[in-house]
Amino acid sequence: MRTNKITIAIDGYSSTGKSTLAKALAKELGYLYVDSGAMYRAVTLYALDHGIISDRLDTDLLITKLPEINIEFRLNASSQVGEMFLNGKNIEGPIRSMRVSDWVSPVAAVSEVRTKMVAMQQAMGLDKGVVMDGRDIGSVVFPDAELKLFLTASDDIRSQRRFDELKSKSTDLSLQMVKANLISRDQQDSSREDSPLIKSPDAIVIDNSNLTIKDQLELVLKLVEGLD
Ligand code: CDP
Repeated sequence: MRTNKITIAIDGYSSTGKSTLAKALAKELGYLYVDSGAMYRAVTLYALDHGIISDRLDTDLLITKLPEINIEFRLNASSQVGEMFLNGKNIEGPIRSMRVSDWVSPVAAVSEVRTKMVAMQQAMGLDKGVVMDGRDIGSVVFPDAELKLFLTASDDIRSQRRFDELKSKSTDLSLQMVKANLISRDQQDSSREDSPLIKSPDAIVIDNSNLTIKDQLELVLKLVEGLD
């Protein structure tokens, strides 16, 4: 068992199980888990609820409103996982909706939004002992992370996993809608100018299409143990 704490960066496409792996790793290692996507989703929810998004995103208005957007993770005592709060309100449920998923990529492409989020993420990782998942964690947030992972899985498997996760909460959702959203977000996230989703050259790629959650965790724990 290693004694010195490290930083683990997990990036990859939508619904590749980044947060499932990150949560399990953090639990196993006694580390802090940070879902950076929840932060971009929180800003998007604010924009949707405050007339900043109608049929288009008003980027200038979003930038002026940024100081009014207070987001923080508060630890849920029973699950021991941080939950996303926006201006004092728990928003874990609404940020996972398709309404937010449909707009989060344009919001996350705004540089001023990214600057604010990245500063918070870097502050949370100052003492190491953190597992953070997202799109730019290994490339921008923690370029010196000791372990960088890049997760992938086939489009069909990813869509099915996300559909299974969401279908109990939303009856008017179809597998096709979920798949279209994943593919569209991947395309937008990979092609944006600021901090696009890329695989850092030093990241280890894991295709988990045919891996169980347990197998994947064991594989990554071995990688952690193998670091010197
Ligand atoms: O749906 P999934 O869990 O894969 O996505 P998420 O991690 O909740 O992230 C939602 C969206 O936030 C992504 O599609 C990106 O547009 C954005 N994001 C980002 O730009 N940078 C990050 N570090 C994390 C998320």
